[in-house]
Amino acid sequence: MNKILAIEDAENYGIKQRAKISLGKLAAKAAPGRAKQLIRSPLSAPKGLRDKSLMAFLKHQARLEQRAEFFEALHKDFWRGKGGNVFAENCDHRFEQMFIANQKPDFEQLLKICATRKPKKIVEFGCNSGLLLNYMVKQIPGIESAIGIDINQQQIERNQQADHFEPIIQFLVHDGVQWVLDSAEEDTLFVTNGGVMEYFRRERLDQMLNHIATHLPPAIFFAIEPNASDHDLDHELDSIPFGQELSFSHNYKDRFESNGFDVVHQRSTTFESWKMMATIAMTR
Ligand SMILES: C[S@@+](CC[C@H](N)C(=O)[O-])C[C@H]1O[C@@H](n2cnc3c(N)ncnc32)[C@H](O)[C@@H]1O
Repeated sequence: MNKILAIEDAENYGIKQRAKISLGKLAAKAAPGRAKQLIRSPLSAPKGLRDKSLMAFLKHQARLEQRAEFFEALHKDFWRGKGGNVFAENCDHRFEQMFIANQKPDFEQLLKICATRKPKKIVEFGCNSGLLLNYMVKQIPGIESAIGIDINQQQIERNQQADHFEPIIQFLVHDGVQWVLDSAEEDTLFVTNGGVMEYFRRERLDQMLNHIATHLPPAIFFAIEPNASDHDLDHELDSIPFGQELSFSHNYKDRFESNGFDVVHQRSTTFESWKMMATIAMTR
């Protein structure tokens, strides 16, 4: 059985990692200009010993100093670039093995809510292969338009060129938060699946949820996002970097409720190395 990712995985370094961090500290002294550059624009796949050790040190520092904007920039660099594209090429199985196999009770609950709230649009952030969005459009009656948003340009281009999607679906390359602030509308079902908001720092997640609750009701949010196995969600409201990736374990119940939503359903499951939290929230 896989070990479920935890906050302690981000905190406990092996010998090799400790050596890299020490080397990075020296490199930051020797090349302060390069260190500053990497703080502004962190690299998810640094090349060469200097940049690799500098990045190890800077990630360590950012975690100790709780600089969430550093991690958000790091995640964006990963998902926009080659790493995101490699993930995308191997991602299709997740629809069947993660969503269909694990999230049926959550989706049934969502169908009941949609039957009374009757959303007209679906917007999925981090839609990747688009398979879930296509499935939802077919399963939820009354949907008139659907938008799949992803930050990875190559994935979106593949979706735009494919011919297996329902014609009402449009795919866009965009940052999810910025797109909501600029373009989202009321009567929408917002969706994230398999970990997408884990890459948004808390401040921007709050900004997005607050915008939806204040300006775009009625709205439904269906989110399936990972939480660290050692995040005590009954007592700990902070958003904490976890796992090797250092994505954020947000307390989704608290985030939604603090930003003007009612949480009407929550259930956790496990998939591979992740504890996945399904949340359905509705604007008040
Ligand atoms: C872990 S994958 C999940 C993909 C898919 N939903 C699934 O479950 O298989 C995260 C997805 O979110 C996208 N993503 C990451 N940051 C994003 C952002 N700021 N705005 C939009 N999409 C983003 C990535 O490109 C990637 O497709």
